[in-house]
Amino acid sequence: LYAEFSREIGAVSTGAEVATIKAEYLGKKGRLNEILKSLKDATPEERKTLGPLSNELKQKILSEIDEAAVRIEREEIDRRLASERQDISLLDSLRDRGLGSAGYHPLTAIGREVEDIFISMGFDILDGPHIESDYYNFEALNIPANHPARDMQDTFWFSDMHHLLRTHTSPIQVRGMEKHRPPFKFVGPGEVFRNEAIDASHEAAFRQIEGMMVGEGVSVAHLVHFLKTLLSEIFHKELEVRLRPGYFPFVEPGFELDYKCLLCGGKGCSVCKQVGWVEALGCGMVHPRVLRYGNIDPDLYSGFAFGMGWDRLVMMRYGIDNIRHLRSGDLRFVSQFKAY
Ligand code: PHE
Repeated sequence: LYAEFSREIGAVSTGAEVATIKAEYLGKKGRLNEILKSLKDATPEERKTLGPLSNELKQKILSEIDEAAVRIEREEIDRRLASERQDISLLDSLRDRGLGSAGYHPLTAIGREVEDIFISMGFDILDGPHIESDYYNFEALNIPANHPARDMQDTFWFSDMHHLLRTHTSPIQVRGMEKHRPPFKFVGPGEVFRNEAIDASHEAAFRQIEGMMVGEGVSVAHLVHFLKTLLSEIFHKELEVRLRPGYFPFVEPGFELDYKCLLCGGKGCSVCKQVGWVEALGCGMVHPRVLRYGNIDPDLYSGFAFGMGWDRLVMMRYGIDNIRHLRSGDLRFVSQFKAY
């Protein structure tokens, strides 16, 4: 029996064949069991020798089956390694097939730059989910149900009417306050979604970076300082900024922050729509009610917050004239940023 088994197991080349042989020899109706059955008729004397002998045989067969399985697996891996091998040193041929070297998407590149600038100023980086609840996106930001400010942002609601695709990164403020005790400062970058009519400067998905700093005596001066530093670093030159009053229910007072147009130096051109200033972001001092939602006592602490759209920043920095290029997936567009 063993001799036959040896011959068969030596010749297998697939896992299925190993399984068949295992059933043939060790299965319920297998050949080894048949031998064991015949032991019934053996004399006690014979049993004494045949019993241990058949056990030994069983172990031997088992271990050889295991070995064969391992061998076959290894052969299979070797085969795949050989057939799927690619010589990545053949860059020229990859380039001929349009593959070439990779580069960062401009949104990623600028996003990392912005994060690095904030990290160097001592900010933490936080994250939040794309699918938010009514509470985080609106309610805890002082925008209760039926508040007219909900109409400022056209929302993609889920059918349960309690969940939505976040319309801004401001929910990260609420999540940040839940996690940190003052003093703290963090930024939260990410994709946001609005049910907008799409044109050259509007997309239904775009990117924002939220910022928040809370502590004793935090003021508008801190806000202006950090944002001016950020914008000057991004554009590699000292920028002039100004605040205009702006309305957001979660800040009081609220502002829009503009920077002087880089292209015309404030004289007026097509980029700044002839006003000489470019709108950069919404910001303000965190509303006391929002601090209370975050379990922070507004009599002890104050804070600023801002939310900056970052697609437009990328467009300004690289001279991109249509926001739709950014998520078009068009290789002719993205391959221009390879050197980055
Ligand atoms: N969340 C606001 C928006 O999407 C921006 C903002 C953030 C304004 C923080 C003030 C403070 O437009």
